[in-house]
Amino acid sequence: MKTVLVIGSLNMDYVLYCDSFPRPGETIEAKERIIRPGGKGANQAAAIAKSKLAHAVMLGSIGNDNDGRLLRDTLIGAGVEPEFQLSGKPTGTATILVNKDGENEILIDHGANACLTEIPESLIEQCDCVLFQNEVPLETVRKAMEFAKSKGKPIAYNPAPAIKGGEACIRICDIVIVNEAELAAYGKTGNIDCDMDALLSLGPKGVIVTLGEKGSIYKGVSGRFVQKAYPAKAIDTVGAGDTYVGYFLAALLNCNSVPKAMDIASKASAIAVTRKGSIEAIPFGDELE
Ligand code: RIB
Repeated sequence: MKTVLVIGSLNMDYVLYCDSFPRPGETIEAKERIIRPGGKGANQAAAIAKSKLAHAVMLGSIGNDNDGRLLRDTLIGAGVEPEFQLSGKPTGTATILVNKDGENEILIDHGANACLTEIPESLIEQCDCVLFQNEVPLETVRKAMEFAKSKGKPIAYNPAPAIKGGEACIRICDIVIVNEAELAAYGKTGNIDCDMDALLSLGPKGVIVTLGEKGSIYKGVSGRFVQKAYPAKAIDTVGAGDTYVGYFLAALLNCNSVPKAMDIASKASAIAVTRKGSIEAIPFGDELE
């Protein structure tokens, strides 16, 4: 089984469910509140491990607090091998609103994630593939990508959230996976194909855009593939993109077929949106049958 090293964020998610998002100056009532482990890095590592198609090692930074301990226990429970650094800052948090259509708005406080600056080179040397997002310092991501590249390791990148300077890392990686908003932020035209071409022109071998209930599209050296979304009644889309990223990569390493990996990733994320929470909403591989 191949090993993916995920270098990324761990957050405690404070999720409030409401009918609709409050407008500026408006106060509304939440229907329910849950507090659950999440963070894009942690979610993606959990998706890889839960798929049972690849082994996931996660490098991240947590605080010396209950949130950090719960994140560690949750990830171990999901099958992830943790390589966590203890920071003097508190564990990162995400304040999340979910409306009645399952859509979300997220506000991040990076906390300990901002302290991930030291990357043990041996972790990169020992893995088969490295996966990054943008919730740890971009300079850390860039340096670790450059080292991974020098060692010939395949690099997957989910440049989320879209941030200024992310293009420098898109130039280094092999495959980029973005949602529609991130694609538009990096591609700049708002036209899906033009923006995918713009990202490809920076150098990666492939780009995938996830489009929610409209499915996902791959463009790159393997061709152009469109994957339909599996029908699902969405109640919470938090972590659905992370489920897709983790499952896609694990499946690709396992079967070496982009369309097959997209199909498996779509199935997994369709299940994830029917459940509340992030890591716990991600299905195990046998649930896809
Ligand atoms: O992608 C979803 C994740 O984004 C949440 O779990 C939250 O922590 C934020 O990082």
